[in-house]
Amino acid sequence: MARTPLIVGNWKMYKTIPEAVEFVETLAPLVADSQAEVYLAVPYTAIAPAVEAAAGSNIVIGAQNMNDSTEGAFTGEIAARMLVDAGAKFVVLGHSERRHVFGETDAFVNAKVKRAIADGLRPIVCVGETFEQREAGETNEVLQMQLEGSLAGIEELGDLVVAYEPVWAIGTGHSATPKQAQKEHALLRKLVGKQTLLYGGSVNPENAAVLMAQPDIDGVLVGGASLSEISFSKIVKG
Ligand code: 13P
Repeated sequence: MARTPLIVGNWKMYKTIPEAVEFVETLAPLVADSQAEVYLAVPYTAIAPAVEAAAGSNIVIGAQNMNDSTEGAFTGEIAARMLVDAGAKFVVLGHSERRHVFGETDAFVNAKVKRAIADGLRPIVCVGETFEQREAGETNEVLQMQLEGSLAGIEELGDLVVAYEPVWAIGTGHSATPKQAQKEHALLRKLVGKQTLLYGGSVNPENAAVLMAQPDIDGVLVGGASLSEISFSKIVKG
């Protein structure tokens, strides 16, 4: 069955409001006739302006994180319904930078996934092993634990997306090979069935098409190469 590829740009902590608006306005005509779904996970401050700039285009705007509570005394946090309010349609959860730099656990990611679903955001749940875990032969175990922990107690996955992002491939210029990535995606496929599966980690215009040609890779999650309209649109167009 033909799959609709999903290409997600994750800007991380890059781009001011004017930069985000300019990017969206430049990207829109470049990807207008794309067969792929085009998502951009932008900084919180840029969500509403990016949504406005993307109106009438096929670009979908989302967020990179959120809190699991609906509201409360959580200084500096943001709630799912605030993201929805700003026009976000999806949210990246459990990114390795959240897990490793900010200490997020599977249990916390799980609570966020539940909240995102309840409040109407499409979750993109990230999992991935470190270099040390891969070297120790623990990759399968780590992926299975992270996935089962992050999705615990969720009966209906709906349109939830799972992203495999090996930590050693993120921002290093060393992508997993298509064969390595497919191997892990086959494991994830067994665990989550027909959910959309993305690969992330040093994806660029040169390697994206061959990664997405793998049977269990439905799209890509792009960091660095999503910061330029040229490289991101090349990835979208394949
Ligand atoms: P890079 O594409 O810069 O390696 O980042 C990947 C990533 O973390 C996307 O979420």
